[in-house]
Amino acid sequence: MFSSSLPRSTIRLAALNSHFTPSSVVVSRLSSSVRNMSVPTTMKAIVVEKTGGPEVLELRTSHPVPTPTEGQLLIKNNISGVNFIDTYFRTGLYPSAKPEILGREGAGTVAALGPNTSGFKVGDRVAWLATNGYAEYTAAPAAKTVKIPEGLKDEDVMASFLSGLTVLSFVKETYPVQKGDWVLLHAAAGGAGFLMTQILKTIGAKVIGTAGGPEKCALVKSLGADVVIDYRSEEGKDWVKLVKEATDGKGVDVVYDSVGKDTWEGSLEAVKRKGTIVWFGNASGPVPPIPLPKLSPKCVKIARPTLFGYIETREEFEFYTNELFNLLSSGQLKTKIHKIYPLEDIAQVHNDLEGRKTTGKPLLKP
Ligand SMILES: NC(=O)c1ccc[n+]([C@@H]2O[C@H](COP(=O)([O-])OP(=O)(O)OC[C@H]3O[C@@H](n4cnc5c(N)ncnc54)[C@H](OP(=O)(O)O)[C@@H]3O)[C@@H](O)[C@H]2O)c1
Repeated sequence: MFSSSLPRSTIRLAALNSHFTPSSVVVSRLSSSVRNMSVPTTMKAIVVEKTGGPEVLELRTSHPVPTPTEGQLLIKNNISGVNFIDTYFRTGLYPSAKPEILGREGAGTVAALGPNTSGFKVGDRVAWLATNGYAEYTAAPAAKTVKIPEGLKDEDVMASFLSGLTVLSFVKETYPVQKGDWVLLHAAAGGAGFLMTQILKTIGAKVIGTAGGPEKCALVKSLGADVVIDYRSEEGKDWVKLVKEATDGKGVDVVYDSVGKDTWEGSLEAVKRKGTIVWFGNASGPVPPIPLPKLSPKCVKIARPTLFGYIETREEFEFYTNELFNLLSSGQLKTKIHKIYPLEDIAQVHNDLEGRKTTGKPLLKP
């Protein structure tokens, strides 16, 4: 089970839509003082010069290996995670400086140390959260890097790292889910949804999961969801009615909605009096500005959290990474890798994600 005490440090809310602060592409070469003999000077990387469709993801075969600066580690990525948020930066829905290497997480080996990176050494197996993940090497902040415990595979960590930390912080802090709560979770078969369904059931919540298509629904059911709705089927199109039926007409205590544009109105209907809606993504497009009086009739609370708002301090980051690693090590949390794609196939990964073809987490082999 989860530990009940949160980190003591103050938890600050992050600004709307600013999950991460993308850094510009680092183009300087490794200085001789930090160079490890086995580190090359160039690498393969996917660079985005301008916003657009998946075609803007350009493979570069001799991109400069970044130099780890103050507080950074140079990490040779064994595997990188691909998240829906990467598509927002690609399209420009979330603004970021270009040129840019997308990819907000990776797992691999420390190849070189920048100044002030105590606690790490070359050769450590680590996972990191930052930017520039679609590449063979990433200069990641040591403050957002953790050692991977013995016994856990890089792939399982990447299938649950950014997504799992998101889920854990949202069910613990955004809305502290209680045993017996009715929870409506959209996109329950996705990278985050697959993990959240399991975690909600571990807490003892009653889960209504939505997903598109029979295969995805069967997967969600296999995770223990109490009610599963195929919101793309004829019957499931009226998912609000089905949610009301399942909850004796009352509605759910909390909705976790990462679909956004297509579901927000239904989510507002499906939540109970004094309930909470946690909007945390825009898979179908952003939620339009909502007039506040719409919340009055049922005294509804709305939250719009981001993972990084909950892991800003080292203490918070370690709290949630320990929580995640314990769940993985004990077998309480299973991962599902949709597929491991070679770096060269990155456009296909984005097509598959945006085309709703993935279940669980797509990973990238740099
Ligand atoms: N706020 C944060 O800090 C934070 C952190 C992590 C993730 N997120 C958000 O959580 C969501 C899930 O992220 P993920 O990486 O795990 O992705 P994902 O859930 O694996 O993929 C998105 C899923 O959304 C559903 N979807 C519904 N309408 C869609 C549409 N019009 N186009 C595409 N997909 C649609 C699809 O599932 P069905 O086919 O089953 O409908 C699709 O598989 C995203 O919205 C992401 O931005 C937010």
